[in-house]
Amino acid sequence: MEPITIVLFGATGDLAKRKIYPALYNLFLDNKLPRSFSLIGLGRREWTDASFQANVEQSLRDFSRRQANDPALLKEFLQAFRYSVLDIGQKKDYQKLLLLIEQREEQLRIPPNRMFYLSVGPEFFETIAANIQDSGLGSANGWKRLVIEKPFGHDLQSARDLNQKLSNAFAEDEIYRIDHYLGKPMVQRLESLQQTNPVIQALWNNRHIANVQITANETVGVEERAGYYDHVGAIRDMFQNHMLQLLMMTAIQLPQKSASDKVRFKKKQVMEALEPLQKQDVGASVIRGQYEAGSIQGKPVIGYTSEPGIAPASKNDTFIAARLQIDDYFWRGVPFYIRTGKRMKEKSTRIVIEFKDPSKQTLSASEDLIAPNLLVIEMSPHEGITLQINTKDPQHKGEFKPIHIDLHPGEKDFPEAYENLIHDAMHGDATFFAHWDEVEMSWAWVEPILEAFEENLVPLHPYAAGTNGPVESDALLAQDGYHWWFDT
Ligand code: BG6
Repeated sequence: MEPITIVLFGATGDLAKRKIYPALYNLFLDNKLPRSFSLIGLGRREWTDASFQANVEQSLRDFSRRQANDPALLKEFLQAFRYSVLDIGQKKDYQKLLLLIEQREEQLRIPPNRMFYLSVGPEFFETIAANIQDSGLGSANGWKRLVIEKPFGHDLQSARDLNQKLSNAFAEDEIYRIDHYLGKPMVQRLESLQQTNPVIQALWNNRHIANVQITANETVGVEERAGYYDHVGAIRDMFQNHMLQLLMMTAIQLPQKSASDKVRFKKKQVMEALEPLQKQDVGASVIRGQYEAGSIQGKPVIGYTSEPGIAPASKNDTFIAARLQIDDYFWRGVPFYIRTGKRMKEKSTRIVIEFKDPSKQTLSASEDLIAPNLLVIEMSPHEGITLQINTKDPQHKGEFKPIHIDLHPGEKDFPEAYENLIHDAMHGDATFFAHWDEVEMSWAWVEPILEAFEENLVPLHPYAAGTNGPVESDALLAQDGYHWWFDT
C-alpha cells in the first residue's frame, strides 16, 4: 500500500465525525491503511493537535463499528492526526498548510501522495480547488486526488459550471465523486452477482424479466436540514444521484471480468439508452408527493410544511416515484420503477427483479395460482439476496407455494459504505465513484422533471407519514398490471 497524506477540509464537521474517522479507523484495524499514513485536519475552529485527536477519539467511541481491544492500537491510529486552522478563502493559510504537509512527509519519509477530501458544502469546492492549484499543494512529485461529496450542482448548468472549475485544478481521473450508495456492500456485489453467475447472467434481459423495482424509503423526515432540503427535494437529494446510480448498476451488462473504466463505460451506455422524458409528459410517468402528519411505528409525527424552517406553502417533493424505460437490446419493454420518500412506513432499500411468468401458457386454469419468481437484493435494513421460487406444498394437496431461497451472506459485520469508498480512493480505484459523464447525463435526464415540478405541471400528492406514499404511486404500476412488492 502506498503511503498517503489525507488533507481533510471540514475536519470539525458532522460527516467527518460520524463517517470519515470511523471508516478510517476500521480500515486501520483491518490493516487496510498504509503503514505510513498521515491526516491533516482543517477547519476554522481554533483546535490544537491534541484537541483534534481527542475529538477524533470521541467520534470513534460514538460511531465506530468496532473498537480495538488493545488501547495501544487506538493511540497509534490517533498519532497520525494533525490539525491546522484554515480559512478557505485565505491564500496564506494554504501556504502554511503546504509547509505542514511537507514537514510531515519528511518526518514520515513518505512521498507527496496527497488526497484532498472536501467534506464541506459544495459552495466551497471551487475556491478550495483553485487554492490547491495556486498554492502548489497539488503540484508535488507524487499523485494527487480530490474527493468530493454530492451535491454536484443544482441542475445541469450549475453542475457543468462546477465541473469546469474543478477541472482547472484536477483531471477527471483525479476526481473521486462520492455517491455513498455506490459504497454499499450489496451495491458493490451487483456487478459480481451477474458476472460470476451464468444463471443470473443468462436471465438478465427482457426475455425473462418483467419489471424492476428500486425502492429507497426512509422513516426520517427532513431532520435538521430544512434549509437544504426545501431547495432540493427528493428529486435532487436522492433521485438524480443515488437512485439513478442504482438503476445503472442494476442494468449494466457485464459479460467479462471488468476493469473500472469498463464498468463506467457500461453505466454510461445505460444512461445513453434511458428514454428521455418530455416536460409536458412528465406527469404520465412521475408521481410526486409530500408527507402530511401521521404516525411512524406508533409515534405521531408532524407534516412536512409544519417542520421548523419549512415554508407553510412549500411545494417541495418529499416523495418521488417514476417509471423509466431503457431503450436498448437488453431492456426494451421492461419498466424500471423507482421510488424514494421520507417519512415512509419503514426504512427499506431494495431492488426487486420480477421475472416473467411463462406458466400462463403451460399450466391449466386451476393451477395458475403461482407467484412470479423474484430476485430481491436488500440493502437496508438487512443486507442480502433472496430468490422466490415456487414449489408444490405436499401438505395442501400439492398446491403451489412460493418459497424463499435465502442467500444472506451471513456476515453480520459488513464494512460501511465509507470504508469501501475511502479504501478505493486511496488505492486509486474509481469503479464505485460517479464519473462526470454519469453525473452530467443524470442531470440532463432529470432536467424536464425539474422544470415540470417548477412549473407545477405535475400534481403534488399528499401522503400521510408512515404510509407507502401516495396511492398514485401504486396506480403507476397498476397501469401496467404490476404492484410494488413487499409493501406492508
Ligand atoms: C443522503 C441524503 O444522500 O442519503 C439524505 O442527502 C438521505 O437525505 C440519505 O437520508 C440516505 O442514505 P441511507 O444510506 O441511509 O439510505
